[in-house]
Amino acid sequence: MLRPPAFAARRLRAAARRRKSLAVAAPSTDGSSIPTAPGRLPLVGHALNFKPPKMHEYLEGVARDLDAWAFVAHFGPRTPVVVGDPALAQALLAPRSGWTGRSAAVLPFFRDSSDAIVGDPEAQGVAFANGHFHWGLARKASEDGLLKTSFVKRSHAIIKDKAAELGGILRDAGGAPVDVQTLFARTALDIVGSLAFEADIGSAAGDKAELEHRLKAIFTGIGECIGAPLPYWRWGFPAPASAPAYDRYVDNGKRLVELVRPIVDARREALAAGAEPTCFVDMLLDEAPAYSDAEVIWNATQILGAGYDTTSNTLAFTTLLLASRPELQRALRDEVTAAAPAGAVGADDVAKLPLLNAVLKESMRLYPAAPFLGRLYEKDEAFAYGGATFERNASALVSPYLLGRNAQVWPDALEFRPERFLGGQRAGDASHAYAWLPFGFGARGCVGMKLAMIEAKLLLAGVVADFHMELAPGQSPEPDPVLALTLSNAGGVHLALTPV
Ligand code: HEM
Repeated sequence: MLRPPAFAARRLRAAARRRKSLAVAAPSTDGSSIPTAPGRLPLVGHALNFKPPKMHEYLEGVARDLDAWAFVAHFGPRTPVVVGDPALAQALLAPRSGWTGRSAAVLPFFRDSSDAIVGDPEAQGVAFANGHFHWGLARKASEDGLLKTSFVKRSHAIIKDKAAELGGILRDAGGAPVDVQTLFARTALDIVGSLAFEADIGSAAGDKAELEHRLKAIFTGIGECIGAPLPYWRWGFPAPASAPAYDRYVDNGKRLVELVRPIVDARREALAAGAEPTCFVDMLLDEAPAYSDAEVIWNATQILGAGYDTTSNTLAFTTLLLASRPELQRALRDEVTAAAPAGAVGADDVAKLPLLNAVLKESMRLYPAAPFLGRLYEKDEAFAYGGATFERNASALVSPYLLGRNAQVWPDALEFRPERFLGGQRAGDASHAYAWLPFGFGARGCVGMKLAMIEAKLLLAGVVADFHMELAPGQSPEPDPVLALTLSNAGGVHLALTPV
């Protein structure tokens, strides 16, 4: 199998040189066994490196230099423990561990920006809110709206239709280079729109692509703002007009809300006219009448965000990895054809696709679309782990990205070797079951995991069965992941797909 990208290795070495130039002896945190990242500067701590778009590489380099896959970083006034160590991840994400909140770094940002965008600082949406009213009810609505059997059946039919639509778009391109990262994003957005709103967003067809543009801009904006060590947007005069990244984020957010509002209103009217509640937004409207309009809208936009770009970036990284591996493409095509000789694979066939499953899992190990999970400790009694203690409101950044690259638990950690997942173990050939966590885990784990895996498998199976993929001229074969809120490939993924 191929070695990791040569230029990625060069980048890691260059990043290591930069870190060394800043490094001081790494102290331990107050008597704990968890080391502190080197290079801590007065006041800002590690914040100069602790921000998008390359924070993941910086933190990976710190872990390698320290040979410790959990360490404390100083990020302005906050001191999150960065977790790429599977045993610590398991302890933090265990049921009743108390690490159920979203981390302190994101909360002030969401409070300010929800106020600016929907006029309610408390409306923070399922993925970022804390507390029973704001998070618990929305979480229940998302589980009821996304996981019920009747819903799951409906979702498979929707995904199959959208996979066929994507196949048509790729065929129409006639082998000319296309940016599959964008095409997957539009398809995934249409799928989550249908599922969460019962509405056809129509972004794959290109006629309503604005929603996708706005969401993408919002992801970048969130990354830029929560990557800032201090909430600088509060200091603008007149507030908050002096911070361009924040202002862009708020403008995009307002426009997104304008686009989503009519869709939510349509569901509200349908329910008022006696329709049965079926989708996520229905559950919010029906089961939580105490929710403000702002709370419903903000949740609705957040389920779109949580559900589309994660799935599509996973597919984009995977197809990029496959484009320079024609033999693996052939093996996948044979597997898919054998599983569904009569035509397109369906949800019932995915169990017959072990290699496809392994390829996706291996791609998610190295390039998890959500590379960092912010968690907040919410119990009064201290949490103890390996000599370290954490008090209420301590922050952790559990990192599927670091977990997946931890050289202490994965053999040949940086090599792309899908066969490591063929043995049926959830975490492949890793020595610890919590080393593979691209969907997080526990009370705040991804609600859409099952749905996302079916969606990714059906879309990928359709592409590998019907097309041979090659890199477009100028497209590097090696992924170049960049962080906004999620991880995507810098500049897109440009491939030429010829029908087979
Ligand atoms: C490959 C695709 C996906 C990946 C890699 C992914 C990954 C994640 C991760 C890592 C988290 C945080 C988990 C934690 O803190 O433990 C998360 C949360 C979440 N995901 Fe996904 N996700 C994907 C697809 C989806 C889909 C399709 C949906 C819904 C349609 C969805 C809905 C959510 C929601 C609502 C949350 C917030 C849960 C909470 O805070 O309680 N995700 N996802």
